[in-house]
Amino acid sequence: MATLPPVRIGLLGLGTVGGGTVTVLRRNALLIAARAGRTIEVACASARTLDKPRSVDLRGITLHADPQAVVDDPTIDIVVELIGGIEPARGLVLRALANGKHVVTANKALIALHGNEIFAAAQARGLMVAFEAAVAGGIPVIKVMREGFAGNDIQWLAGIINGTCNFILSAMSDEGGDFDEVLAEAQRLGYAEADPSFDVDGIDAAHKLMILASLGFGIPLQFAKVHVEGIRRVSREDVAFAARLGYRIKHLGIARRQAQGIELRVHPAFVPARAPLANVNGVMNGVMVRGDAAGPVLLSGAGAGAEPTASSVVADLVDVVRALTSDPGNRVPHLAFQPDTLENQPILDIADTETAYYVRLHVADEPGVLADVTRILADLGISIEAIMQLDSADDAPMVPVVILTHVVKERAMNAAIARIEALPAVRAPLNRIRVEPLA
Ligand code: HSE
Repeated sequence: MATLPPVRIGLLGLGTVGGGTVTVLRRNALLIAARAGRTIEVACASARTLDKPRSVDLRGITLHADPQAVVDDPTIDIVVELIGGIEPARGLVLRALANGKHVVTANKALIALHGNEIFAAAQARGLMVAFEAAVAGGIPVIKVMREGFAGNDIQWLAGIINGTCNFILSAMSDEGGDFDEVLAEAQRLGYAEADPSFDVDGIDAAHKLMILASLGFGIPLQFAKVHVEGIRRVSREDVAFAARLGYRIKHLGIARRQAQGIELRVHPAFVPARAPLANVNGVMNGVMVRGDAAGPVLLSGAGAGAEPTASSVVADLVDVVRALTSDPGNRVPHLAFQPDTLENQPILDIADTETAYYVRLHVADEPGVLADVTRILADLGISIEAIMQLDSADDAPMVPVVILTHVVKERAMNAAIARIEALPAVRAPLNRIRVEPLA
C-alpha cells in the first residue's frame, strides 16, 4: 500500500453513532486502511458535554465544546456530521463545504429538507457529501440504489424504514396490545423516544423515503410533497383482522412511478403475510426495490443502533477517501443522476394514487344496512373483493364489518367513505388502510 499520510476526520457529535463510529474505526483500522488505501484517523470531535464518562476510547482525539472549531480546523479533510436535526447541523455542513472539506452525514432530515442546497454547494467546490447512514442505518441501500441499480428503470420501491413503527406494529401483531400500551412498552425498552412523534407520525420515514425516491427516479428532493401518515390510528382490531385475512400491517414508505407522475407516500398498509417485507419484524428495517432488469430486490437489516449506523458512516468514509484524488466529474453523483439531468416530474396528489383498501366500519345490525354500503361503493365504481360481517362480541347494537376492495383511485374511495360515514346506521369515523400487494 502506498504510504500516503492518514486522512484526518473531524466528528460533530459523540453520541450513540459518534461513539460507534470511533469504535468501528479503531477496531477495524487495518481492514479499513487496506480497503481505503489510507489510514483514517479521528483527529478531533465536538460534543455538547466534554466531561461526561463515555465507554468509547477517545485517546488521541482533540475534543471541542464548539463544533465550529472542528469545521474550521485547517488540518481536517472530512467532517462527519452526527448531530442530527436542521440547525446547527445545516450551518456547520455548509461551513465545512465552504472551508473545502468533504462531508459524511447520517442526518436524514437535513438531506431530505436541504439536500438540494447542500449538494449544489458541494458540487460548486468539487466536494463530496455522503449520506448512507441517513437511510435505514446499517443497510447499504443508498449504494445499492445509486450504483447497483444504475442500469435499471426503477418501477417502485417500498420500505419499512422506521424501526420504532415496525417494533410497535410487530408487537401489536404478536402480542395483541393496543397502540398506546405497546408504545409505552417500546419507550420502557428504549426503542421509542420519550417524544415519539417523529417516528410514530411518519416524519422520519418520510425523510428517508424522499431520499430513496430521488435516487430511484432522478427527481430533486421535495419533502413537502410526500404524503405522510403515521400509525396512531391502527387499532388492535385492525391488526387482528389483517391476520384473519392473511395480511400483516406494516408502516411503509412507497415511491412508485405511474403514467401521470410519481407516488410518494408513507402510511400503514396491509401487506400479504407471505410477502418478504411482511416478515421484516421488530426494530429491523427492510427495503424492496423493483427494477425492470433486476426484478425485485430485498435488503433488510438493522435500521438504527451504534455500530450498524457506524458501519454506513465508515463505508462512506472509505468511499470518500478512495475518491479523494478522482476528478469530481467522474464521481458517483449525490442523487444517482447527474445534477443537470434531475427532472421535476409531477408528484401525484394522494387523491390520484391507486391502491386496494381495507375498510373497517361499525354498523347497526339492521336489514338493508350492508346493501346501502355496497350500493355506495357500486355507484362510485368500487369493486369489492371480500366483505365480512362479524358477530358483535357483547350483543352491542353495532357490529363490525370489514370490506376489502379491488384497486381504486383514492379520490373515489374518499367520496365513498364520506357517503358511508353519513349513513345513519354507520358509526363514523370508519377506519381504512391501503392494501399493497408488493408484487
Ligand atoms: N428513529 C429511527 C427509527 C432510527 O425508529 O427507525 C433512526 O432513523
